[in-house]
Amino acid sequence: MSKITIKNIMEAKKEGRKLTMLTAFDYLTASIIDDAGIDMVLVGDSLGMVGLGYENTLPVSMEEMLHHTKAVKRGVNKALIIGDMPFMSYQLSEDEAVDNASLFLKEAGAEAVKLEGATEDIKNLVKRLTSIGIPVMGHLGLTPQSIHKFGGYDVQANTDEAAKNLLKDAKALAEAGAFSLVLEKVPADIGKKVSDSLDIPTISCGAGIGCDGQVLVTSDMLGLFTEFKPKFVKRYANLSKEMKKAFEDFRKEVEEGMFPGKEHSY
Ligand code: KIV
Repeated sequence: MSKITIKNIMEAKKEGRKLTMLTAFDYLTASIIDDAGIDMVLVGDSLGMVGLGYENTLPVSMEEMLHHTKAVKRGVNKALIIGDMPFMSYQLSEDEAVDNASLFLKEAGAEAVKLEGATEDIKNLVKRLTSIGIPVMGHLGLTPQSIHKFGGYDVQANTDEAAKNLLKDAKALAEAGAFSLVLEKVPADIGKKVSDSLDIPTISCGAGIGCDGQVLVTSDMLGLFTEFKPKFVKRYANLSKEMKKAFEDFRKEVEEGMFPGKEHSY
């Protein structure tokens, strides 16, 4: 079982092999994802909402991201591990951004970082990070760290002008050296158009079947996070229901003196 590298991820596009990515923020989940043969594990800043209970992804700190990336690293043998740079860890200055990105690789064991947007500063940062050996995955379309700018989680790139800008930004990030690009919540035809225009693989998070791979937030696809469900999420399980039943069964059996039985006693 050989380790998946950036080279493998980029080759997949040339070979027409669809890529898979799931999020994880703990050892056990990461190891199950890895055993299932998923190509990439993203320690996403969605950790803030589904793991730490914040209202959005903005409060997540570098310290929290590094802590959880280390746990994921201990569970993964094969998949490529990508650390998501949290809000304000890469916007203040380029030097600070480089320093923070390096911690994902040096301290936490990630093999790449992901960051949102395509401003001039971000494009320069992507250039610098890739030139010093820190692979970067871009993230365009709905970028949740800009939630207050967008004023909600609406579909992006749904006008001709916005779609043109998305394509321009995607090309610029690829030119700056990004090895891959997440496209979040954009119309499927735009997702396909961007994917067909780039040599690097696009990973869809609600950007349709025409992208080169797909990502889901693991707690969404397992039906663990049930507060809301975007249209692009498919639930492959209903774990929150199963967990609740198991917890209730345990409570009842303890209260009724049925657990532990002889077989659980010494
Ligand atoms: O933080 C995250 O989980 C993400 C994915 C939704 C792509 O950025």
